Amino acid sequence: MIKPQKLLMFAVLILIGALLALQNGKKDDQSGPLHGNAFSLDVEKIRADGLRLYNGACIQCHGIEARGSSFGPPLVHEIYKPSHHSDQAFVLAALQGVRAHHWDFGDMPPIEGISQTDLAMITAYIRHLQRKAGIK
Ligand code: HEC
Repeated sequence: MIKPQKLLMFAVLILIGALLALQNGKKDDQSGPLHGNAFSLDVEKIRADGLRLYNGACIQCHGIEARGSSFGPPLVHEIYKPSHHSDQAFVLAALQGVRAHHWDFGDMPPIEGISQTDLAMITAYIRHLQRKAGIK
C-alpha cells in the first residue's frame, strides 16, 4: 500500500509541474516577434537611439526636439510631414546636403560620418515628434 502522504506529495508535484508548464506556455506566447510588448520595446529603443544621434548631428541647426533654431528650420512642421518629405528625403538631405529652397537659413551641408542606419533612427525619432504634434 502507498501511504496517503506519498500520494499527496505526488499530487502536489504534478500540480506544480502543470502550473510551471502553463506558465512556460504563456511566456512562449508573449515572446513572439509580433507581440505588442516586445515590439514596442524595440520602437522605444530606436527612438532613444534616434534622439541621441539627432542631438549629436542635427540639433545645432534644427533645434531641441526639431523645433528649429536661428540656424535651421523646425522639422516638426507641416512642410516635412511624410506625404511631403518621405523618410528617404531625410536620408538624402543628410547624405547630400540641401540647397536652400523653403527658408532663408542658407544651404544645409552634407552631414559627415553618419550612416543610413543612423539616419533611419533619426527619422523614426522625428516622425515620432511630428505625430505627437499632430502632424501626420
Ligand atoms: C548646419 C546646419 C544644419 C545641420 C547640422 C542639419 N541641417 Fe537639415 N537643414 C538645414 C537647413 C538650413 C535646411 C533648410 C533648407 C531649405 O531652405 O529648404 C535643412 C533642411 C533639412 C531637411 C529638408 C530637406 C528637403 O528636402 O527640403 C531635412 C529632412 C533635414 N534638414 C534633415 C536634417 C537631419 C536629419 C540632420 C542631422 C543628421 C540635419 N538636417 C542637420 C540645416 C542643417
